[in-house]
Amino acid sequence: MIRINENYTKLKASYLFSDIAKRVTAFQQANPSKPVIRLGIGDVTEPLPPVCIEALHAATDEMANRATFKGYGPEQGYAFLREAIAQHDYAARGCAIEADEIFVSDGAKCDCGNIQEIFATDIRLAIPDPVYPVYVDTNVMAGRTSANVNGRYEGITYLESTPANGYVPAVPSVATDLIYLCFPNNPTGAVATKAQLTAWVEYAKKNKAIILFDSAYEAYIRDPAIPHSIYEIPGARDVAIEFRSFSKTAGFTGTRCAYTVVPKTLMAADAAGNPTPVYALWNRRHTTKFNGVAYPIQKAAAAIFTAAGQKQVKDMTDFYLGNAALIRAAITKLGFSCIGGDNAPYIWINTGRDSWEFFDLLLSKANVVCTPGAGFGKCGEGHVRISAFNSRENVVTALDRIAAALK
Ligand code: MLT
Repeated sequence: MIRINENYTKLKASYLFSDIAKRVTAFQQANPSKPVIRLGIGDVTEPLPPVCIEALHAATDEMANRATFKGYGPEQGYAFLREAIAQHDYAARGCAIEADEIFVSDGAKCDCGNIQEIFATDIRLAIPDPVYPVYVDTNVMAGRTSANVNGRYEGITYLESTPANGYVPAVPSVATDLIYLCFPNNPTGAVATKAQLTAWVEYAKKNKAIILFDSAYEAYIRDPAIPHSIYEIPGARDVAIEFRSFSKTAGFTGTRCAYTVVPKTLMAADAAGNPTPVYALWNRRHTTKFNGVAYPIQKAAAAIFTAAGQKQVKDMTDFYLGNAALIRAAITKLGFSCIGGDNAPYIWINTGRDSWEFFDLLLSKANVVCTPGAGFGKCGEGHVRISAFNSRENVVTALDRIAAALK
């Protein structure tokens, strides 16, 4: 009989956010009169910026007309979007990234998950803990780890983010090959300074390693000293791939558009030890497995780079950061220490209690959904994450209910 990929049996039965969704649905079915407020999964609630809506309408009209209709587009994305990204997200910050080093896709989640397949199966991994589960799970699926023992997989060097290091892990003392970093961080909301990122770039150079830098939340950075891109660090072009998304920047979680930057100068060794451009491999993978993001969606994404678009996106992220400030103040007032929320839409709360128990407490007593820290890794135990993505009214109500429940 045909056999399964046994590596899947090493994974937890379900993905973290599916698990939470199941628990919330069960609670709602048992308590239909109690309206639940969701501050769990980081899903946006505010409508798309008006410039995006206008661009979507105009592009839809183009699709209705034989002369302007579009079939398959370039797999890597239309030049108008790649050029706008190169100009606004990189050249404007002094980063030398060419438009053709940018691969437009339908999500940073897919790209972060898929990228590992262009590397050897026996490479050494460095992955933060707590962490966005996609980085770990996709490497488990690919067979790079042993079974899970006490919440840890052999084959991974865990980069622990704890109160002791301000939730920003230092470079490890051992050599690794593929390093996952995410700043502003999901789930902790911590940010990395230029000096901290420089240490990572130097570590990667020394070990001939590659950094996978997830900066899906960069639009939330307000501190001018914090880098938005790993390419702001000298030499990063030779050691890093960067993932970005329009999801949290412009409300595209349901619209789907993101991009990955693979510099042409980035090399990895082949079996004979010869440096080989990673760009060529990712291009080969992307063109084989992906047929491009829909034209109207790419037009909507490009619209955020206009002057009006930039203002609307800033207003939207300011709005969520306003929620985050309220959450942080209310939680601090309740006596908990927390980080995040100032340059990120997540607040990471040190509850000092079992995180699933705290999740159940907030759900049953306050009817508020958070994300239990243990779902992000062993070091997430004792913490919960609260997301700032919701309406102001819901955030204020949720905070009142949490305060009453914890009294
Ligand atoms: C989260 O809540 O961690 C994110 O929304 C998940 C994602 O972006 O896939």
